[in-house]
Amino acid sequence: ATANIGVVGLAVMGSNLARNLASREGNTVAVYNRSREKTDTLIAEHPEAGFIPTYDYTEFAAALTKPRTAIIMVKAGTGTDAVINELVNVFEPGDIIVDGGNALFTDTIRREKAVRETGINFVGAGISGGEEGALHGPSIMPGGSDESWVTLGPILKSIAAVAEGEPCVTHVGHDGAGHFVKMVHNGIEYADMQLIAEAYDLIRRGTGKSPAEIADVFAEWNTGELESYLIEITAEVLRQVDGETGKPLVDVILDQAGAKGTGAWTVQTALSLGVPVSGIAEATFARSLSSHPEQRAVAAELPGPQEAFQVDDVDAFIEDVRLALFASKIVAYSQGFDEIRAGAAEYGWNIDLGAIAKIWRAGCIIRAQFLNRLSDAYAATPDLPVLMTAPYFVEVFERAQAAWRRVVVAAAQAGIPSPAFSSSLAYFDGIRADRLPAALVQGQRDFFGAHTYKRIDKPGTFHTLWSGDRTEIEAEDTH
Ligand code: 6PG
Repeated sequence: ATANIGVVGLAVMGSNLARNLASREGNTVAVYNRSREKTDTLIAEHPEAGFIPTYDYTEFAAALTKPRTAIIMVKAGTGTDAVINELVNVFEPGDIIVDGGNALFTDTIRREKAVRETGINFVGAGISGGEEGALHGPSIMPGGSDESWVTLGPILKSIAAVAEGEPCVTHVGHDGAGHFVKMVHNGIEYADMQLIAEAYDLIRRGTGKSPAEIADVFAEWNTGELESYLIEITAEVLRQVDGETGKPLVDVILDQAGAKGTGAWTVQTALSLGVPVSGIAEATFARSLSSHPEQRAVAAELPGPQEAFQVDDVDAFIEDVRLALFASKIVAYSQGFDEIRAGAAEYGWNIDLGAIAKIWRAGCIIRAQFLNRLSDAYAATPDLPVLMTAPYFVEVFERAQAAWRRVVVAAAQAGIPSPAFSSSLAYFDGIRADRLPAALVQGQRDFFGAHTYKRIDKPGTFHTLWSGDRTEIEAEDTH
């Protein structure tokens, strides 16, 4: 045996990750794919990688030095379980099986528990950065045991993206912690993308600028505090001209957004945890809304505002939208980190939130300049309860909030949907409110269901005898 690492599943992500591994000093990579053609093609196209091709699981296991370490790169789902079973059959206690797909974290918890009984380590690792990231340096979010990290850590560090000299990988926590964090990464990705899309829509409809002109706006924004991969690629997409029609590509792409499920998982999990990730939820729902053409065709009859939308001062409006985008983006990250904090508490993971901000600085889809500010915030206050209350963000809100409000008002008046902008602002105003109408909701609940309430002026739980003489009594706490 000569390989220190193996890759199972040689579609684009798996092949690129295998090539990345092979290109780093000290790694020898064994590869296996269910159909042998993919293996043979990879070997033929990349002789420089020195891959060890294998054609069944026994051969694959024999090619690996102990503790054997294998990364599974297959489409998340039942295929993953099948590959895990095959590996468990040929691996030994102490060996390490890594699932590098976008698995649901509860599946990872289940798989880790089952595999652990055999003495083999199972690690669910989120890998972000798409095909290019896999090849040149992704951001990696591994869960799993401390024992597995001893072997796996150096290997993953060798291939991860580097941000300010630090590899974008950390041992996130045990069992499903890595996939949980990757899930929330994707939820934030949905919010970020939707916010950018809303900004584009408002600028286009408010100023009449062409997609190519708006590409210049995004390219300009990318030189400042909004600098990020998603802003950068937005400019590229907007500048693209369709070869067939000569129109901007964005105008010929069907306006129905797809989704593979990680955004929905983030929202479903947040609902169970009671964490209001409203920006992520609106972004996910915005994709759903877009994808019902039959409903949209019928609803196109509904009335909209009478007056056309045209802003007076184009530059001022664009600056307002930029600030609204930045403020809303901070809300989305703050909500996402809130979900990680709550998930860690629920599942017993010891997750270092500052370390997560750091490993998202490069390699992943949501990489952005401002993640440095996030890691600074956690460095200063590791148990910060609301991320966006860190001093740097407070300063942004002071600067941005008037613009943010103007943009949401303008969008509402113009009839331009801005669910992510407006829900982020509503969250901001909700969380900073001295007093919320939740008090009235409690009164209503007590009225129709004797659900009880607490008082601001004394301890205890109370119920008003609504259908009796309406005096108040002490009651059992029913929540
Ligand atoms: C990443 C991406 C990656 C994938 C998304 C796309 O971090 O590299 O998030 O995982 O491109 O899952 O998700 P949707 O198809 O749901 O938009």
